[in-house]
Amino acid sequence: MKMWAGRFRQPLDPRFEQWQRSFPFDQRLIEDEVAASRAHARALAAARVLSQSELGSILRGLEQIGQQAANPEFLRDEEAEDVHHFVEKQLVVLIGEAGYKLHSGRSRNEQIATDLRLYVRRSVDELQHGLGELLEALVTRAEKAGLATMPSYTHLQPAEPVLVAHWLLAYAEMFFRDSARLADCRKRLNQCPLGSGAVAGSTLPLDRAAMTSELGFDQPTANSLDATSDRDFAIEFVQTLSLMAVHFSRFAEEMILFSTREFGFVRLPEAFSTGSSAMPQKQNPDAMELIRGKAARVIGDATALITTVKGLPLAYNKDLQETQEPVFSAAETMQAVVSIAAGFISAVEFDYERMQAAASSGFMNAMAAAHYLVARGVPFRHAHEQIGQAVQWCVERHCELEEMPLDELRRFAPDAGQDFYSHLTLDAVLGCHDVEGGTAPARVRQALAEARERLAALKGELHAHA
Ligand code: ARG
Repeated sequence: MKMWAGRFRQPLDPRFEQWQRSFPFDQRLIEDEVAASRAHARALAAARVLSQSELGSILRGLEQIGQQAANPEFLRDEEAEDVHHFVEKQLVVLIGEAGYKLHSGRSRNEQIATDLRLYVRRSVDELQHGLGELLEALVTRAEKAGLATMPSYTHLQPAEPVLVAHWLLAYAEMFFRDSARLADCRKRLNQCPLGSGAVAGSTLPLDRAAMTSELGFDQPTANSLDATSDRDFAIEFVQTLSLMAVHFSRFAEEMILFSTREFGFVRLPEAFSTGSSAMPQKQNPDAMELIRGKAARVIGDATALITTVKGLPLAYNKDLQETQEPVFSAAETMQAVVSIAAGFISAVEFDYERMQAAASSGFMNAMAAAHYLVARGVPFRHAHEQIGQAVQWCVERHCELEEMPLDELRRFAPDAGQDFYSHLTLDAVLGCHDVEGGTAPARVRQALAEARERLAALKGELHAHA
């Protein structure tokens, strides 16, 4: 039975009827729909709309539906308009007429608002769990890298040497922020729309506090018009995911670049690479390329979502059905990305020798050289000019700054002394970045310890939600 046929004299155009259905995708919400329906049924019984025995059979019916939800055969239904209709139909099959009482005092508008919040909430929790594993892998790799060094780049030109651990922790920072954004989004979404009715509030005196606590929400939503049409929570979630996808795409790009023969810093794990059907020698970084590519999809999801809501009059409009698929797409895409990336990070190998060789040449100690002069009272702008001229001298002779004889150097930098050279070694250059957040080994050790603590706190929070 349709949920709304009474007022209609003509059947729906069959193409339109199929086209407007959301069941093919909103069946993902079935466990949320069952949970929300259970809470509503209890509130109906408390309001004496259902007898205790009707409540009992509705709860048993819902439980059975929940149990069968994992079975794709059970979900095969060409007629159900959406997940709300499907559950009502199945309930009536299981328990008869009493099943039709469940919809008293509620609307699908508040149901979808509730189900989608529950879906986003559990997706946040799953993603946080995944981010915890990913950060674990990343921080472990950074710890294992010890004092290994590599070049850092600006404009993709060699800049200054850094610890490999420092580089890896840069990504950890991005993912910690993503995790914090997800936690923030979770806080704001955790309100219960049940009781909002179609638009103006339920016509029955439902105990909203009871429904709120049964579903693990923090409080009931404050305004029925807003609650039934608000999708901020979905927008925030998918925008957060789009930023997270961008972070992953930056990581993927560096892995791709650093695994090229020209860089040779990274050896791709075979378990996360593929070959070429044409060129026998190839080992391609497909895992990273797909991760880089997936960012486009998630950015598209975020764009679709916010554009759907733009200019919608209050309250519910069917356009809002279009907000579901971008949420599912972004959540499912990023769950996979996080897990593939975590596996990759644990398996990838670094060629520390090549990294160190690259960090030891190409004038990456020029800034430290200028600061050597600054420490001797030379104004930085002059020091910069003098070392720049020294670099030019070296470029012409294919040598490094530390290979330049002191008398030649002093023609440009009269304040340089014999101790100049000891300030140019890799260790000295790293050590001079001795500032919070810098790459001096002691600072990186401290940053690693702090990353460990933050990771433990993140895992503790997840545990609290579990
Ligand atoms: N499938 C619908 C959606 O996702 C459920 C709400 C339908 N409400 C309505 N008034 N037609 O938005």
